[in-house]
Amino acid sequence: MVGSGSLPEETGGPEVAIVLVGGFGTRLRPLTYEVPKQLIPCAGQVALYHVFDLVPSSVRQIVLACGYKAAEIESYLEAHPYPLPVRVIREETPLGTGGGMKNASEGVSDPFLLMNGDVVASVDLTRMIAAHREHGGLGTMSLFEVEDTRPYGVVALGAEDRILRFVEKPEPHDAPSHWINAGVSVWSREVLDRVPTGREVSFEREILPGLIDSSDSRGRHGVYGFTFREFWEDAGTPERLLHAQRLLFDHGQRRRIPLSAGTGPSVRPPVSVGVGCRLEGAHVGPYVTLGDRVVLEEGSSVEDSVLMDGVTVGRGATLRNAIVGPGASIPPGAEVRGKVLVREGAPQG
Ligand code: GDD
Ligand code: MG
Repeated sequence: MVGSGSLPEETGGPEVAIVLVGGFGTRLRPLTYEVPKQLIPCAGQVALYHVFDLVPSSVRQIVLACGYKAAEIESYLEAHPYPLPVRVIREETPLGTGGGMKNASEGVSDPFLLMNGDVVASVDLTRMIAAHREHGGLGTMSLFEVEDTRPYGVVALGAEDRILRFVEKPEPHDAPSHWINAGVSVWSREVLDRVPTGREVSFEREILPGLIDSSDSRGRHGVYGFTFREFWEDAGTPERLLHAQRLLFDHGQRRRIPLSAGTGPSVRPPVSVGVGCRLEGAHVGPYVTLGDRVVLEEGSSVEDSVLMDGVTVGRGATLRNAIVGPGASIPPGAEVRGKVLVREGAPQG
């Protein structure tokens, strides 16, 4: 082993996963004035639980770094317990991705997982952890290849998948490749010592670039990439959330909570239906998630959409590529395409 021989060798994988969920979800307004983006359902369960489903079996505890709408997230977790213990840490003011991670890091394992709370991915974290151990780096970051890199962090990859450069949201001419930070990574605990306290810190802009040629006290050096292919999406905009839903339905994600599949003459799968829904005489699917107590009146039709709890769709109305917030009513005959809708009286700021 390189570095201090007196320290115990790492054996198991990370026991703690820090999940960042403090963002405002600005790109999903007005719905996110009422519901934090991680609690918008997608392919049968809230987006956050799709992130939780990725954690490998070594993880004993999930720590949520919360800020915006922390109370709503806490009550959701209480009402719908996840099969792993989840601890909620609140930020008084937004601390950024680095500050939020540090604020939630008390008692964290070495190494620990860091996960953005808004991604869906086919990444196999057990394999990523194995690769991390093999490379002996400070960190390993999952990487997915995309055409348009502008909204993401982009890496230059060298021999043995060593990350040579990391640029957050570069202009296209400055993007070193098409491999982006997929928002799930594993880190040596000492990385936390690099994050200043008491102010907002962007992990990607302020901390990550400095780790690329750096070591910890155990001799773990540099940052590596773990590339994967099948599917990935950041569910941070309406279009991308609906795309994420299609990917999840098509690729049948492993789930710790089973999906409530909809069946019946007017259902075109894949569709997920909550409890107490009324769908007689309506056409549903494909690619639809219905929350609880959704009513689709005679002749209405819903495709490629998410309808949250208590939504009513009037007679003959059609919805395509829509995300509809809790309790909203769609008038009879309405034609809704590509919209985020909320109930009358929902918060608007
Ligand atoms: N606790 C906390 N505090 N969490 C935060 C804060 C904060 O102040 N700000 C953002 N987050 C959470 C968000 O809720 C989200 O789950 C995650 O951190 C990432 O923030 P986004 O705002 O969604 O970032 P992004 O999508 O523009 O970019 C990030 O994700 C990309 C992949 O989806 C970066 O990590 C990029 O490098 C990456 O490619
Ligand atoms: Mg995001």
